[in-house]
Amino acid sequence: MTAKDIGRLLENCPSSSLLAQIGAQARRSGSRAAVVGGFVRDLLLGTASQDIDIVVEGSAVVLARQLSGLLQGRLVKASPFGTALLALGDQKIDFAAARTEYYAHPGALPVVTPASIPQDLFRRDFTVNALAVELLGDDGFGPLLDPCGGVGDLGNRRLRILHAGSFQDDPTRIFRALRLANRLKFTLDTATEELLREAIKSQGWRNISSARLMRELRLMFDEPDWVSACRDLERYGLFAPLFGPALTEDWAGKLEKVDPAVEFFTGQGLAVDRIGLAGLCLKAYFLLPARLARQIRPAVERLPDTRRELAGADRPHKIFAALAQIPPPVLAYLWIICQNGEEQRPIRRYVEELRHVKPGLSAAQIAAQSGSGPQVKMLYNKLLTAKLDGRLPTLEDEREFIQRLAAESTHGGL
Ligand code: CTP
Repeated sequence: MTAKDIGRLLENCPSSSLLAQIGAQARRSGSRAAVVGGFVRDLLLGTASQDIDIVVEGSAVVLARQLSGLLQGRLVKASPFGTALLALGDQKIDFAAARTEYYAHPGALPVVTPASIPQDLFRRDFTVNALAVELLGDDGFGPLLDPCGGVGDLGNRRLRILHAGSFQDDPTRIFRALRLANRLKFTLDTATEELLREAIKSQGWRNISSARLMRELRLMFDEPDWVSACRDLERYGLFAPLFGPALTEDWAGKLEKVDPAVEFFTGQGLAVDRIGLAGLCLKAYFLLPARLARQIRPAVERLPDTRRELAGADRPHKIFAALAQIPPPVLAYLWIICQNGEEQRPIRRYVEELRHVKPGLSAAQIAAQSGSGPQVKMLYNKLLTAKLDGRLPTLEDEREFIQRLAAESTHGGL
């Protein structure tokens, strides 16, 4: 990869003019800036990433602030550790001061010292991320900085850490390795895999704060190949410590059904998302927002009864009664645990048809016919039941039905 090649790739990518403006502003303010990490990696792999990481020799926060004024962006975050996040419409750009990092003990936050852009590359996770290109403003783009052999590893589709202590220093890299390997369809280099296994065995990952661990897991579940990443968690002995029992094939089979279920339910306008549904399948309530978890738990615990009710539901109103109170994520979970299409059929019918059934008469119209009072609700429910079962095709049928019931009620028949 020559300087010209990488320059051409950058000139032709959608973020080209933005990168040029970042470089020009860095030069004006006497600092140096380079695009680094995943953006360069993906560019070399032929995919343009939306996420841009900029490393700065000088103050990253000052540069981000200047650019936010110049480009009418919004400085979302600026931390005392010399990092800043700039939002330009939908696009987010991370700025970080070039630094070296030293870890006092595994899992600790690093002690940070300012450094040059090339030195900064040595603190990174994988060789394919230890890549940078300086942004030279009007002079275009600098040569590709690749001190760790990242381009060679990209060619061999191989993920390799930079030094033996990398996973111990920052155990989140264990999860990053599995996530990235699955996304890019890369294999772990032999020594890296060995070190990954050792790091897992030494249990250092248990020191990751729950917030950071959650972030890593969420990122993993956001990947298209998240089930395969779960299988890797199992293969490396991380699945059971995180989620309880081991990932059996039967269980993995359920996870494979999550995305089609999300597609079906969201297509029907019901709020079901992948991580929530995966969380239910894994019985990992910690993956769900706490309020949602509390809300849906009783419905999950009732599912054996619900399945029995559904099995005996010989008329539509019984399907409706079994499912109407169940929150959408639990409905989707029930859909997944059903043994076969036959068991799924009433759920599909409820979702597609029955939950939309409403009597033509309103409660007020029923009250006008029957007189107001507690019987209105009862009449409405009876009306809905008959409607669900297809016994009242017209509004006139509904009126007659209410009239008859109201009359029976005045004679003590209700
Ligand atoms: N990085 C690291 N160690 C970590 C997290 C991040 O070395 N624990 C470095 C990597 O060089 C990475 C860069 O910081 O490329 C930016 O991090 P992030 O945006 O999380 O990674 P990307 O490589 O951009 O990955 P993605 O494509 O998932 O955004």
